[in-house]
Amino acid sequence: MARIPPEADAMPFSDKTFWIETFGCQMNVHDSERVAGTLAARGYVPVERMEDAGLILFNTCSIRDKAAQKVFSRLSQYKALHREGRIFGVLGCVAQQEGEELFHRAPHVSLVAGSASYPRLPELLARLEAGERRVSGLEPAGDEAFETELTRRGHPYRAMLTIIEGCDKQCAYCIVPYTRGRERSRASAAVLREAQALAAAGYTEVQLLGQNVNSYRDPSPAGLSFAELLAAVAGIPGLKRVRFTTSHPRDFSAEIVRVLGDHPALCDHVHLPSQSGSDAVLRRMRREYSRAEYLEKIALIRACRRPLAITTDLIVGFPGESERDFEQTVELIEQVRYAGAFIFQYSPRPHTEAGAWGEADAVPAEVKTERLMALQRRQQEIQAADNQAWVGRTIEVMVEGFHERLAQWSGRASSNRVVNFSGSGKLENTAPGALPLLRPLRPGEYAWVRIVRAGANSLVGEQAPPPAAGA
Ligand code: 5AD
Ligand code: SF4
Repeated sequence: MARIPPEADAMPFSDKTFWIETFGCQMNVHDSERVAGTLAARGYVPVERMEDAGLILFNTCSIRDKAAQKVFSRLSQYKALHREGRIFGVLGCVAQQEGEELFHRAPHVSLVAGSASYPRLPELLARLEAGERRVSGLEPAGDEAFETELTRRGHPYRAMLTIIEGCDKQCAYCIVPYTRGRERSRASAAVLREAQALAAAGYTEVQLLGQNVNSYRDPSPAGLSFAELLAAVAGIPGLKRVRFTTSHPRDFSAEIVRVLGDHPALCDHVHLPSQSGSDAVLRRMRREYSRAEYLEKIALIRACRRPLAITTDLIVGFPGESERDFEQTVELIEQVRYAGAFIFQYSPRPHTEAGAWGEADAVPAEVKTERLMALQRRQQEIQAADNQAWVGRTIEVMVEGFHERLAQWSGRASSNRVVNFSGSGKLENTAPGALPLLRPLRPGEYAWVRIVRAGANSLVGEQAPPPAAGA
């Protein structure tokens, strides 16, 4: 192993401003909120621009090679700032993947920490502040989930809330079990306390997060199942929308569908990654279900007493994927008619079973690209056709922002579909005798929208009165 560069430039630092750039999934976005809270509790102040920060952190993703490479290009892009005394840190999945090797690949980095080490951040920061030049937190995950009161949420009305960390599955392509470690569920009482606090703070939407939320096992004597936890969160007054992600088909149960049917606060959406439509590929991926078993779960969801949007993740070009295997994936999306799909080209990852297979069964890059494009094209056609069914209906939208150029509001339906709409605003002062006032909508509030047009990726409508009850 190469020698660690000398610590000639070690010196205590006192510029307590910070900036975090986040890559990857929602778990990472939420981890950054927890890291930001920990920093704020130590007196650090966030700044708007990386150039103004004393402590520059990258919270990284290594799910595909491209995501991991992006981190190294960002690091070299801003190397010059290190000479001005700024401190660089790499957090998250690339940190865990590379370990202390990262200090060699990017010698201007002073902190390398994986997500299991975030509970130790105060100690790691103290060492950096004292002038230690290379500080790392790379231990494997323990048995307990990370509990902190210090989350600094970046969003004022939609909150993410972790219920389970890590993943015990062994999908042959996936680096997550390596980077995030074993499954650790949070006690149901802690989850519910946090959800209640969020409602009290004015949040109306909560997203329950985990790599595999269906594996949730309440470690406390209450022993709630995931479905029971969902029901309990959905019952908290003030929470209007509760989402959850990600579900693994193997563990997705009829009980979850029942709870979805019973609780209007649970959103009309299930994200259920299938990854492939071919049994042979599913087996080699070690997904623990067949195509037929996956379709049984889809049938359960379709039988829910209210319609639910189903979305998926798919990988094309997994080693050994034949033309016939790929066609079965195309047939799967035609059969399920997903409301949305994230489609990825297979990317070999270190520390994974498939990553060690070498080139023997590899699908050529150009074939992967062709399959990606063909599948995306077909999925867009399906979405464009199915979204037509929304035209003429009036749905509730959480307002997120305003497009100046389009002069349209933008928001999301409970199904997670993007809705752009023209809006007259909200009526205030509606008491008898008062002068009514029409004010513009505000992000975070809800509006009823009548859909007039539909594209593959969004619905377009205009603000309308709520539909009559029972309509
Ligand atoms: N290559 C391509 N896509 C991957 N995913 C996970 N690992 C890989 C990989 N090695 C995809 C899966 C997963 C999503 C988050 O990323 O579809 O569901
Ligand atoms: Fe990326 Fe997976 Fe890590 Fe999320 S858990 S940041 S998707 S590698």
